[in-house]
Amino acid sequence: MTTNIQEYEDVFIRNLAILAEFRDPNVNIHLERVRRYCEIICDGLGLPENTIKQISIASQLHDVGKAAIPDEINFKSGELTDEEWKASKTHVNLGYKFLGEFSSPHFEIAQEIAISHHERWNGSGYPNGLTKEKIPLSGRIVGVVDTFDALTSERSYKKKISPFDALDLLNNSKGKLFDPNIVEIMNLYFVEILKVFDELN
Ligand SMILES: [Fe+2]
Repeated sequence: MTTNIQEYEDVFIRNLAILAEFRDPNVNIHLERVRRYCEIICDGLGLPENTIKQISIASQLHDVGKAAIPDEINFKSGELTDEEWKASKTHVNLGYKFLGEFSSPHFEIAQEIAISHHERWNGSGYPNGLTKEKIPLSGRIVGVVDTFDALTSERSYKKKISPFDALDLLNNSKGKLFDPNIVEIMNLYFVEILKVFDELN
């Protein structure tokens, strides 16, 4: 793949991700933060440069399946009913299926992230209840940074908390909900994380 085609694909992925969540006015900046946080974690983990790029670019498509979920569920201001919660959770399978229509390394990783970013270290996540390293690394990374971003972002149904309080929550869930190694990297590189937080909030 030439550089030009790669650049084209990067832009295409970004636009596709924005389009999928277009009805959310905060989506552009949320996706940019998730991408940048992923870069920091991947770098901290010592992953090869190409893998860092692939995971961080593909991370922007983690919630692409939400495009197929009704607005009244995606943007509900109160708590979801059991039925709505069940429907909301299907965004991971829908994203996986949709991204399977494309074929390139970026989309393969995007598929992996879409299906696994709500799996949790202790098996309490969805859709497959995978545990520990059975969850793909890319999904474990996006699981942590997406949670951090959700905690530090205002939503119609919840208040935001400070990045320091969000880090405390992640630390308390380390080895339970989240890969302890990734949370450790989050602590080690928190100055970098805060720079992105300040720049993009
Ligand atoms: Fe999600």
